[in-house]
Amino acid sequence: MLRAFIFDLDGVLTDTAEYHYRAWKRVADEAGLPFTRDDNEHLRGVSRRESLLLILKGRPYPEEKIQAMMARKNNYYLEFIKEISPRDLLPGAQELLEELRANDYKTALGSASKNARDVVERLGIDSLLDAISDGYSVERQKPAPDLFLHAAAQLGLPPKACVVVEDAAAGIQAAKAGGFRSIGLGPRERVGGADMTLLNLVGVHLADLLKALHENHPG
Ligand code: G6P
Ligand code: MG
Repeated sequence: MLRAFIFDLDGVLTDTAEYHYRAWKRVADEAGLPFTRDDNEHLRGVSRRESLLLILKGRPYPEEKIQAMMARKNNYYLEFIKEISPRDLLPGAQELLEELRANDYKTALGSASKNARDVVERLGIDSLLDAISDGYSVERQKPAPDLFLHAAAQLGLPPKACVVVEDAAAGIQAAKAGGFRSIGLGPRERVGGADMTLLNLVGVHLADLLKALHENHPG
C-alpha cells in the first residue's frame, strides 16, 4: 500500500529548472560552447558535474577548468535563487503537499541539488516535508536509484510504499531502478516511462493519483 510521496524539486515543486538552464547557458556562452534549450532537456535531474560533462560533449578540459566552470555556474545559480519566495511554488504543489499530509501520507524531497535545502526554505515548505534527501545525501546520483532509496529509508518505508514525482527522464529511470512507482510531469517524450504522466500539478488531487496508480483511497 502506498504510504508516501517523494518529490523532486527543480521542475516539480518550483521552476528552478529554468534557473539551472540559464546559469549553464551563461557558462557555455562564456566558453564559446554551443548549448541550446533542447540540449538542456538532457541535463534535467542530472548532477552538476554530469551536466557540465554533457555540455562539453567529450571535449577534453583539464580538471581545474571543470572545477572553475562548475563554481561559476553555481554562483550564477545562487544569484537567481536569491529572489525565490513562496510565490515561486509551481501551481498546485502546495495544495497537493497539504492534501497528502492531511491524509496521513508521508512526504519527502529527493533532489540531486546541493542547493535544495536553501530553495525549500525560501519556498517556505520545510514544514510540509518529513524528510529531505539532496545532493549531499548519496554519491551516485540519478539515474541511479540511491537518492530515492535514501529518502525512503529516512521515512522508514520500502520503495513499494512510495511514489516518486519527477520531471526528468533520469529521475523516472532512478525511480524504476529502485522499485518505486512514478508520476512523470511533462511531455511523454521525456517522462513517458513513468506509471502515470501529467503536464503539471494544477488541480491534481490525491484521489486522481491513487486511481491512476490503482490504489485504494484511504478514506
Ligand atoms: C537537480 C537539477 C539539475 C542540477 C542538479 C544539481 O537535479 O534538476 O539541473 O544540475 O540538481 O544541482 P546543484 O544545485 O547541486 O548544482
Ligand atoms: Mg527536476
